[in-house]
Amino acid sequence: MTARIRPMRESDLARILDIEASCFPTPWTRGMFVDELAQDASRYWVVADSPWGLLGYAGLMIVEDVGHVMNMAVRDEARGLGLGTSLLSALVDEAEARGLRRLTLEARPSNAAAIALYRSAGFCEAGLRRGYYADSGEDGLVMWTGDFAAPEAVAAARRMRERSRAALEGVRLKRTVPDGDSTSHGDLLLAIETSCDETAASVLCDGREILSSVVASQVDFHRRFGGVVPEIASRKHVEAIVGVVDEALEVAGVGMSDLTALAVTHGPGLVGALVVGLAYAKGLAAATGLPLVGVNHLEGHLFANVLADETVEPPLVALLVSGGHTSLVHVPAWGEYHTLGSTLDDAAGEAFDKVAKALGLGYPGGPVLSKLAAEGDPGAIRFPRAMLHSNNYDFSLSGLKTAVVTYLASERRAGREVDPRDLAASFQAAVIDVQVAKSVRAAKACGVTTFCLGGGVAANAALREALRVALAEEGVRLSVPPLALCTDNAAMIAAAAHFRLWRGETIGLSADAFPDLGLS
Ligand code: KG4
Ligand code: ZN
Repeated sequence: MTARIRPMRESDLARILDIEASCFPTPWTRGMFVDELAQDASRYWVVADSPWGLLGYAGLMIVEDVGHVMNMAVRDEARGLGLGTSLLSALVDEAEARGLRRLTLEARPSNAAAIALYRSAGFCEAGLRRGYYADSGEDGLVMWTGDFAAPEAVAAARRMRERSRAALEGVRLKRTVPDGDSTSHGDLLLAIETSCDETAASVLCDGREILSSVVASQVDFHRRFGGVVPEIASRKHVEAIVGVVDEALEVAGVGMSDLTALAVTHGPGLVGALVVGLAYAKGLAAATGLPLVGVNHLEGHLFANVLADETVEPPLVALLVSGGHTSLVHVPAWGEYHTLGSTLDDAAGEAFDKVAKALGLGYPGGPVLSKLAAEGDPGAIRFPRAMLHSNNYDFSLSGLKTAVVTYLASERRAGREVDPRDLAASFQAAVIDVQVAKSVRAAKACGVTTFCLGGGVAANAALREALRVALAEEGVRLSVPPLALCTDNAAMIAAAAHFRLWRGETIGLSADAFPDLGLS
């Protein structure tokens, strides 16, 4: 994962105020930042941005030929990564480009870490301002750089630029991973997923590059029962897991000793299925001493979007639609989830599966129904659009399933032929209409310009297209993972784990599975 320095924008302010509040006893207000951004060329504000959101910021006030560092902060989880140097380096570059003579700043004498950073960036002490800090009465230590015209200052700026580049490229798990072994590749995560009927393992490099993604599907064993049988799922996971994990390592060309961390889905899902992956992952963690990250399956479906497109970033709204879930979620920042609404009864994938079963098309229903639907007339039969006009973001799909089954029975009783293609297309259109309408409404209400689709039902081509078109009309960009990352897989679990590990969130060897785990 890499970070970058870019100019500050007003849309950054929500995150900046969070960081500000966590760093300073008398944080700047929103109004102060807005004022700063409204100034002319006498100000220069930058942020350190990353796929995980803003990590820090710094700003300069220019008076004649001197640049004064007004404010600088780095988010707690990102300290010690060298981002302070990167931010200062950007200010020094700007100062040089504008032909300024030097930079100055004030630091709290008690803030040894900040003073050490400024010293390493070429600042030295110039004097004290008595009682400068109103909150504590502390003196302000005035520091300044040498004259930028001097060759030493030019050399110092160049060194900083190099350190800055290394820091930005290396923004990854440094907090949780001990330094020392300097293998050539980045962080390697092995993730395991066994929440439902796929046994999956994946090795992911640097939170982005999929070195392997092995998925052993059990559908053949469940098909004859028309759905997932939990006992069979557990047994099949036990049979498959050793081979699947070995294959993931082999395809990736890495061994256990190369790994940075392990990850496993710990909920939501079938409890008997989850515990198989969890027990295996805990065993590996105990044997290797590697940190273990517990991942929420739904967060995994969301992070499939990041794997496909690194530029996907909150604030966003996500529609997560799978065999077990249908939720609209507002994501103001990675790791912050507000569920706007969810299904009151059947999940979207479940509706596809039940209708397919009624038509005698087998399990799972989504892929076969969507293929049929592509050749049918979506307007042939008018099925109900449950809760289309309800004033919330909830869904209800069991009525639609009943309507399809009832329609089918009455047509058969009347001796009329039902074209399964028209039936599939009409059913699918009823599902999509409601999902699209609520998605667009949620995106508008939350004021986002990015929308993510995730979960097995995201593989549905008609849903993807309808959402894309409707959101585009509102200026909202739709992100959808490629098909292989929509249905259950472990690469998406590794991607979410990368983010969690980066925040230092690991689980212990006594950790449990959470079949009803929500996104929060
Ligand atoms: O995310 P997933 O692989 O497993 C769960 O977490 O539940 O989702 C599986 C669900 C199944 O219900 C399946 O019928 C549905 O996703 N699905 C589809 C399509 N492909 C899979 N639904 C509609 N259209 C599809 N093309
Ligand atoms: Zn899933």
